[in-house]
Amino acid sequence: MRNRSQAEPRDAAAAPLGAPPSDLPTPLLGGLTPAQFMRGYWQKKPLLIRQAIPGVASPVTRDALFELAADYDAESRLITHFRNKWQLSHGPFEPDSLPAVTRKSWTLLVQGLDLHVDAARALLDRFRFVPDARLDDLMISYATDGGGVGPHFDSYDVFLLQVEGRRRWRVGAQKDLSLQADVPLKILENFEPSDEWVLEPGDMLYLPPHIAHDGVAEGECMTCSIGFRAPSAGELGAQFLYYLAERGGLRDAGGDDLYRDPKQPAVDAPAQLPPAMVDRVAEIVDAIRWRKRDVAEFLGCYLSEPKSNVVFDPPERPLSEAAFVTQASRRGVCLDRRAALMYNARSYFINGEEGPLEQAEEWLPELANQRRMEAKRFVTLSRVPSMTALLHEWYRAGWIRVGSRN
Ligand code: SIN
Ligand code: CO
Repeated sequence: MRNRSQAEPRDAAAAPLGAPPSDLPTPLLGGLTPAQFMRGYWQKKPLLIRQAIPGVASPVTRDALFELAADYDAESRLITHFRNKWQLSHGPFEPDSLPAVTRKSWTLLVQGLDLHVDAARALLDRFRFVPDARLDDLMISYATDGGGVGPHFDSYDVFLLQVEGRRRWRVGAQKDLSLQADVPLKILENFEPSDEWVLEPGDMLYLPPHIAHDGVAEGECMTCSIGFRAPSAGELGAQFLYYLAERGGLRDAGGDDLYRDPKQPAVDAPAQLPPAMVDRVAEIVDAIRWRKRDVAEFLGCYLSEPKSNVVFDPPERPLSEAAFVTQASRRGVCLDRRAALMYNARSYFINGEEGPLEQAEEWLPELANQRRMEAKRFVTLSRVPSMTALLHEWYRAGWIRVGSRN
């Protein structure tokens, strides 16, 4: 192995577990290094990768997936294309309310499988050569012969990994992205594919945003979609202002919280919006100030916020801090599969909450990048009392677990 350059992580142990190192060719990306893939393909052009994960197993069996689709916390959709008509319904679905598996042309999609199944979380972790801030979730689809979601495009990048059976993908970089009216799904009006491939288990297709595609099952099949998060400028702007407001950062220049108008004269046209009010609010808006630091803190909190369907599972009879330290010294700790932990130079962000990195600099980046801390490392680091106290608090919240698996 050649020497690592200065630009790469100082400590190889800090690189994410499961993900290929950024400078090593990997079958996952068809022999490219993650660095080459990001430069040449990411957000730019599709890439077909044969045997990206040879011998891959689906993170769930068909029956386990049907069971999960009955769960209120799982986000599931059923799409049928019976008698040439597209229909969409939202879960939960009792297994016996799904069409028969012998019936053609239907598909069940479950979003956020990584929140429910460790093997799905482990699969998602292989893609952590892309920052966690961009990684969204792992969706799985089960389809019967002829099933699919129709020709469409997505607004975000996606890796489509075939995990069981075969699926025929047709793909095109068309400009016309107009959608059919009066269908419950986003279906392209004129689909003009330029490429066609049949994917077998282990094969993967990367698509950047806005590439038209249609995947049709050839016999029963299952496909995992590793999806990315691309918030709109509108969403980011609105959420940032909301964040500033919540932290009291939107007071007007005079320090007033509530609107005041001691000079408002009596009016004969009460329905008219007072021009002085518009001027005053324009002044308030103009006076909004923030620093780059506020933006970073907002992003860390916002992007690490758990999705609304996430419920953590705190231990029923939690260990005391001393017993936790003893156990963790033997078995290590790992982040719960639902937990998000990020950091920047000043702060760490865990599940939407912010804290100072200062006292956690020695150990937190490593835990955040690897999502676990081996027993030996825990022993070495447990001399930092603030670490054991904080980790114990997170353990009590169900954000970390003792041991190397969830
Ligand atoms: C599927 O798995 O059927 C749909 C995935 C996609 O096209 O984005
Ligand atoms: Co798609």
